[in-house]
Amino acid sequence: MEHDTARRIRRAVAGLGAVAVLVAVLVVWQPSDLYLWLKAVHVIAVIAWMAGMLYLPRLFVYHASAEPGSVQSETFKVMEHRLLTVIINPAMAVTWALGLWLAWDGAWFSSVWLHLKIALVIAMSGIHGMLSRWTRDFAEDRNERSQKFFRMVNEIPTVLMIGIVILVIVKPF
Ligand code: HEM
Repeated sequence: MEHDTARRIRRAVAGLGAVAVLVAVLVVWQPSDLYLWLKAVHVIAVIAWMAGMLYLPRLFVYHASAEPGSVQSETFKVMEHRLLTVIINPAMAVTWALGLWLAWDGAWFSSVWLHLKIALVIAMSGIHGMLSRWTRDFAEDRNERSQKFFRMVNEIPTVLMIGIVILVIVKPF
């Protein structure tokens, strides 16, 4: 288990390292369209973050009905922990870092759409925090929440994501 955890941490660090190297190469190379390159990496990170944020509560829906201690429940624990540490956490870090850089480089900080977008992203990050807490509860066989609860939670990232994408693409305010 110890060995497994160390391997997962190494994989997450390697993933983040690869993105850091890519960003460093772009920053040193200074292509005239650096902004667009970093926006592309931002959107790639957003897709990875959202994929995880939509999938993890779905795993909880099935996990909530598995008997604690069963093979099924132990398998869900591994899937949830890996999804959180290898995909969701690093993808959120890259999304935030590059989003803030784009906002600074593009001088967007005075735009109302960005303030609203950041408010929705903070809400998304709050749900992310709750998902990590529930992953820990499941890992320790302490979950008492129902399938129905997780089905409802599953809708929140979708609604937030729709708002965020409309704000950044349409920029209505
Ligand atoms: C606080 C974190 C974030 C900040 C500060 C941020 C900021 C930005 C900025 C300044 C841009 C460039 C806008 C432009 O060039 O027109 C951008 C692009 C984009 N962001 Fe974010 N973002 C964040 C998180 C997110 C999240 C969570 C999502 C999706 C759920 C997202 C989706 C996108 C998309 C799709 C684009 C491309 C828009 C386009 O090219 O028209 N961002 N972001």
